[in-house]
Amino acid sequence: MSEACTYVIFGATGNLSRLKLIPALYHLEVANKLPRGTRIVVSGRRLWDHDKCISEVRQWVEERARHQPDDEIFKNFSARISYFQGDLSDDSMWGRLKQYLELSPQKQRQLPQNIAFYMSIRPADFGLVVQKLGEAELLQQQHGWRRVVIEKPFGYDLHSARELQRSLTQHLQEEQIYRIDHYLGKSTVQNVLVFRFANTLLEPLWNRNYIEHVQITHSERMGVGSRAAYYDDSGAMRDMIQSHLLQLLTLVAMEPPATMEAESLRDEKVKVLKSVRPINKESVDDHAFRARYRQGVIDGSDVVAYLDEENVPADSTTETYAALKLYIDNWRWRGVPFYLRTGKRMAERQSMISICFRHPPQQLFRDLVAGPMKQNWIMLGIQPCECLRIEMTVKESGLEMNIRQTSLDASLRGALQEKIDAYEELLLDVMDGDRALFLRYDEVEHAWRVVDPVIREWQRRDEAIPEYPAGSWGPVESRRLFEKKEQRWRHTIDPEGDDE
Ligand code: BG6
Repeated sequence: MSEACTYVIFGATGNLSRLKLIPALYHLEVANKLPRGTRIVVSGRRLWDHDKCISEVRQWVEERARHQPDDEIFKNFSARISYFQGDLSDDSMWGRLKQYLELSPQKQRQLPQNIAFYMSIRPADFGLVVQKLGEAELLQQQHGWRRVVIEKPFGYDLHSARELQRSLTQHLQEEQIYRIDHYLGKSTVQNVLVFRFANTLLEPLWNRNYIEHVQITHSERMGVGSRAAYYDDSGAMRDMIQSHLLQLLTLVAMEPPATMEAESLRDEKVKVLKSVRPINKESVDDHAFRARYRQGVIDGSDVVAYLDEENVPADSTTETYAALKLYIDNWRWRGVPFYLRTGKRMAERQSMISICFRHPPQQLFRDLVAGPMKQNWIMLGIQPCECLRIEMTVKESGLEMNIRQTSLDASLRGALQEKIDAYEELLLDVMDGDRALFLRYDEVEHAWRVVDPVIREWQRRDEAIPEYPAGSWGPVESRRLFEKKEQRWRHTIDPEGDDE
């Protein structure tokens, strides 16, 4: 177990902290994974006293915990928590915070001096907060490590990402920065590496000779909800593709790393991003598609159009659906399209990687099926189904020569195993100083290089954005990205699902 530390959560009364961070820390308490002496400083603007803070935390835990909280465990958990009231824009806060963290009223150290600062705040404040921490000498590592966890988005485009990086590195070394992409904490996502590199079976097939194309899908049934203030400036391409989906692409496409250490892994991921064929403005329509949800029905209830959501400007041109076709111009992947797709208010909540293999060179059983022969697929379900399936064609038993699809199921999680939230893993990794699942700056920079030309071109155009009814799989026009007319979106893990 790692050494005790102090987790300081800025913006701790906000959504991310309520819904993810505090419940994840509580689950780590339940699993007995928080090092002895670890403390949690909940910091926010509200004028709460300690009791109010603990009662709020109790409520957040009750709402999100996998099981009814155990009183004894919650007591231990709450003993770690203290509330620090402060307004980030108030200059006097930083001296007080330094006192609070470094010295007790008796002028003795009371909190562990390994300190992780978690930026659960507006991205526009990342630079300011790091500057203030730096000026208050809270980032110096004489008495313990100091780490800063930065949530996405890291910048708004390549230019702003560089600016942010420049401002952070005035006060921080790269190894103190933990750029979080919570997708990397998801169980199946990590399993992509084990699946690929712990089995000899796949490696000979994992290339352009056998793989026809790859699809990476993240669809949600939720709409933009109360997040329009953030989302309308972002859109699906920035919100999901630049970050989470490009990360998934790097894991599927990377070469085996020299070791599983952070730098080896990140070196290989960056190579993939650097090899993505740039999309120039003339080819944006061949490579990218955007759309926005209009009103529709989800779970039997009417839901409003994006433009009618709270805080969405009437003249918004923000996309809630984006699809992108990328080519990776290296020896392994040249010529294999990678289709990335994400949308809000879609028919299902589904995140998966679908790998479609080429047809065999000779189609000996062609006459046995009515339509085209099915190809082999490898399906990596990320959520809600955490699974791994290989779809194959086999003969049915019996005297007739009939063939059918079957899938070899190496499901990752048994019904009795608990689902671990990505944040649990990542919060622990910060304490352990393991940066393998966090982004290095060059990954962020190259991810922006991939999507920036598309976003710029979309912003430049004054055109109507295609719409799809909420509760659907998005506009069929997105199929124009496909290289071959037989290709289709794979909507579900189930081979008999409602694919296009
Ligand atoms: C976030 C995006 O990073 O990821 C959200 O900002 C999105 O818009 C969310 O809904 C999806 O994450 P998950 O873990 O719910 O699939």
